Amino acid sequence: MDKDNKKVALVTGSTGGIGTAICKKLHDEGYIVVAHYRNREKAEEWSTKLKKEGYKLPLAMADVSDFDEVEKMFEDIKNGIGNVDILINNAGITQDTSFRKMSLKQWKSVIDVNLTSVFNCCRHAINPMLENSFGRIINISSVNAQRGQFGQVNYSAAKAGMHGFTKSLAMETAKKGITVNTVSPGYVATEMVMAVPENIRNQIIAQIPVGRLGTPEEIADIITYLVSDKAGFVTGANFAINGGQHVY
Ligand code: CAA
Repeated sequence: MDKDNKKVALVTGSTGGIGTAICKKLHDEGYIVVAHYRNREKAEEWSTKLKKEGYKLPLAMADVSDFDEVEKMFEDIKNGIGNVDILINNAGITQDTSFRKMSLKQWKSVIDVNLTSVFNCCRHAINPMLENSFGRIINISSVNAQRGQFGQVNYSAAKAGMHGFTKSLAMETAKKGITVNTVSPGYVATEMVMAVPENIRNQIIAQIPVGRLGTPEEIADIITYLVSDKAGFVTGANFAINGGQHVY
């Protein structure tokens, strides 16, 4: 693919609800969007569906919790398309259970996929961004990083860690044209949220002042601003988009 002076955006976890909306919006804005996935079968199905809607996006596979796989993914993107200018760390999982039942495996898998992945992807993205004096990094956190959530000790810890990461990396890269920000969605109508048992989900919706779940597009809209040249003064920030569920 010819880069043709277009910026390259890598979206991790692109086949999920928020990831899909981000991919589409960034593509509509004229970026070359590389859609990262973990599950090939799901990604192929996703890709076929998007092609029918007019979105032909290059795909990239890696287990984002694995440093070496991420390194190879970045090498492949560089060789096939060009360096990544915009990185959206969106891949994430839940393993919800009360702490007294939480296993070390459930703790580690959520920390590795949701937080260590951010280290892995940023580590491989950052040097070319420094060399180009341009970069945009956005870490997708969660309202539950800020407020806590019954059953999510692992997830809340990982998502809160993400914002500490954001703030420190923002300090280190601010003079080099690179911005690093966190976006913290509330409960959005995605597969992940729809997997919460209906009765519990309804109790959660009742706590959202706006009175409904968010839409993936409402999250993706702010991403298009944050990656743009207009947002060069915005760094180290957290954008809470949660329908008023947590105000602070
Ligand atoms: N507050 C207080 N008590 C609660 C509770 C809550 N929110 N939820 C359950 N309990 C109580 C139950 O009433 C029960 O009490 P008793 O023992 O007295 O009967 C007890 O806790 C159940 O405890 P368990 O150890 O059996 O709980 P569990 O291991 O089965 O876990 C759960 C339950 C799976 C965590 C379930 O509560 C749940 O699914 N909660 C929703 C979690 C959630 O919101 N996840 C978000 C997923 S989406 C996402 O993460 C995206 C994002 O960023 C927003």
